[in-house]
Amino acid sequence: MNQFAKDVLDGLSANPKELSSKYFYDQKGDKLFQQIMALEEYYLTRTEYSILKDNKDSILKAFREGVSKFNLIEFGAGDGYKTKVLLRHFVKERADFTYMPIDISGNVLKILETALHEELPDLQVKGLQNEYFKALDQLHDSPDRNVVLFLGSNIGNFTGDEAVQFLTHLNDSLKPGDLLFIGFDLKKDPNVILDAYNDRSGVTRAFNLNLLARINQELGGNFNIDKFRHHPIYNPMTGTTSSFLVSTEKQTVEIMDTAIQFGAWEAIHMEISQKYDQQMIEKIATDSGFEIVGSFKDESNYFLNAVWSKK
Ligand code: AVJ
Repeated sequence: MNQFAKDVLDGLSANPKELSSKYFYDQKGDKLFQQIMALEEYYLTRTEYSILKDNKDSILKAFREGVSKFNLIEFGAGDGYKTKVLLRHFVKERADFTYMPIDISGNVLKILETALHEELPDLQVKGLQNEYFKALDQLHDSPDRNVVLFLGSNIGNFTGDEAVQFLTHLNDSLKPGDLLFIGFDLKKDPNVILDAYNDRSGVTRAFNLNLLARINQELGGNFNIDKFRHHPIYNPMTGTTSSFLVSTEKQTVEIMDTAIQFGAWEAIHMEISQKYDQQMIEKIATDSGFEIVGSFKDESNYFLNAVWSKK
């Protein structure tokens, strides 16, 4: 049985039921996420974009401080929409660096590399097709500074403990003087946050339900998508946004000869999208062994990008 099948059966046999948001991103899920990023309600993408655009020079200064060249390594580059703001500026300023997007999908990397060669012929690109940490291990012998980009508040899909574990592992894979440039979505008006995960056009709803459709397709499940309701909540105390799919009636779903029972209004936990405040961010940096170098925010204090260094 593959990992996806195992995780799905484990998660749906557990109490409470859960599925992992890392499985949202099949081909359809990638498309839906692209649509989410373009939504009026989904403020994250354009806000982080504006931070990068308004601070590109200070960001380059931080990356180049004390070294002549660097590797710019990106976790989860996607189509590079936000990163290109930096890349364009860095090339224009004749910074000596190689852009290394990491992705597990060779296809995603190829598309990105082709687009970048076209748009920025002077940019040095070296795609690394691997898991994040295996790709970092490949760079261990590089004498140049590594600067890791982890944008989009992707860290928010981890619980607090998982985030510190992930960043500690990242810290262990770096050498002193290497940098992490990381995006955090900040605590704000709870209604603004809820709208971002419950958009009027229903794209986020479709994004969550698509995982049930994926289970139907890839694991021969028989979810009736119409009998599940998308329900996000935001806890302003903890800063955690949680998304659920709620069964609207008592029903049985079969997946690979396993019968999964749902009570009426029983929920599946689908995703967390953590929101942070300054103290939480500082604690995460310290707990994972990083030193805070600087940070950038947008005008509305919606989002924060931090520069951390390995001691
Ligand atoms: C890609 C993890 C940053 O949590 O905001 C968007 C994914 N989920 N809408 C987020 C997502 C629902 C997104 N991240």
